[in-house]
Amino acid sequence: QKGGYDFFMQKEIFEQPEALKNTVMPRLHNGRADFSADNISDDIFKDINRVVVTACGTAMHAGLVGRHLIESMLRIPVTVELSSEFRYMNPILDDHTLVIVVTQSGETADSLAALRLANERGAKTISIVNVKGSSIARESDYVLYTHAGPEIAVASTKAFSVQCAGMYLIALKLAEINNMMTAEEMAAYCDAFQAAIDTVAPVLEMDEQIKGIAEKIKDTFSAFYLGRSLDYAIACEGSLKLKEISYVNSEAYSAGELKHGTISLVTEGVPIIAIATQENVLPKLMANVEEVKARGAHVIMVTDKDMSSYEGIYDDLIQVPNVDDRFGTFGVTVALQLLAYHVTVFRGYDVDQPRNLAKSVTVE
Ligand code: M6R
Repeated sequence: QKGGYDFFMQKEIFEQPEALKNTVMPRLHNGRADFSADNISDDIFKDINRVVVTACGTAMHAGLVGRHLIESMLRIPVTVELSSEFRYMNPILDDHTLVIVVTQSGETADSLAALRLANERGAKTISIVNVKGSSIARESDYVLYTHAGPEIAVASTKAFSVQCAGMYLIALKLAEINNMMTAEEMAAYCDAFQAAIDTVAPVLEMDEQIKGIAEKIKDTFSAFYLGRSLDYAIACEGSLKLKEISYVNSEAYSAGELKHGTISLVTEGVPIIAIATQENVLPKLMANVEEVKARGAHVIMVTDKDMSSYEGIYDDLIQVPNVDDRFGTFGVTVALQLLAYHVTVFRGYDVDQPRNLAKSVTVE
């Protein structure tokens, strides 16, 4: 069942090139997003003045990726709400609001309740779902299925990557329907999207190197993930992955927030995983990295950028292939999944079934 892998999580990490290909390729045609086989009407993307993404856990982090993309590229306001909060906050919704529910299982109780509330209040609803025919898929106006195949390990890996891909597809469709990008821009976006997906396989080949880095930090009590802009969303996901399976006390911070409290926790040898895929904030991020390095942190850079001018201010480098900054998500995410996986194996815990956690959270 594990197909020669030691754990389901490991198998699912390695299935990502296929999962991404199956989710994305049938929907990219002639430089546009084609949802005709999904029976998703263009109408849902028209007359929208805001987007609300609601989800839990890892799926919420895919929402953060989507927010960055849709706001920065399309200038449509996006909020991302934890479903468990959204349903109790008396949200302001109307038929100009597109609510996107993101979920692997399609059965998460809070996300289902959030969807029902959005439907009741007349918002347009679309869900990004992996499990066919699940409750959330059935109750949304439309569903964009991710084609990751079954995800068994509690820690979500391939489902996250395809959820992000779903966000990138919806962003392209929004751009097309609302005339926000030219045909040339859309074609370039599709090319960059495919190129980014193609970098996942080479990142998987870095497994041994990442294992070596994991061994260096395996005994740590705590760890911090830093990023700015899109990389903050990825930091959140990387940190969740590490904490949920390895039990390392791990937190993600926007690098700019360090000086507002967190840096007091940085002591000799504490692993800091810094994510750098966004050129426009790279000097700012590296200034923060220099500050933690000066306090003795063990800095692991995870980046697709050329780091030659920053040598000496990091200890380890996970260099993934360079991609268009909008699509920085895919390669670094896979590297962070491998890091969390190997740390957990070194610590001797059950990777697939971490304590106190269930695959599908059907209670509130
Ligand atoms: O099935 P869902 O995507 O709705 O589940 C949401 C979260 O419970 C889930 O993403 C959880 O955070 C992951 N197991 C973390 O790896």
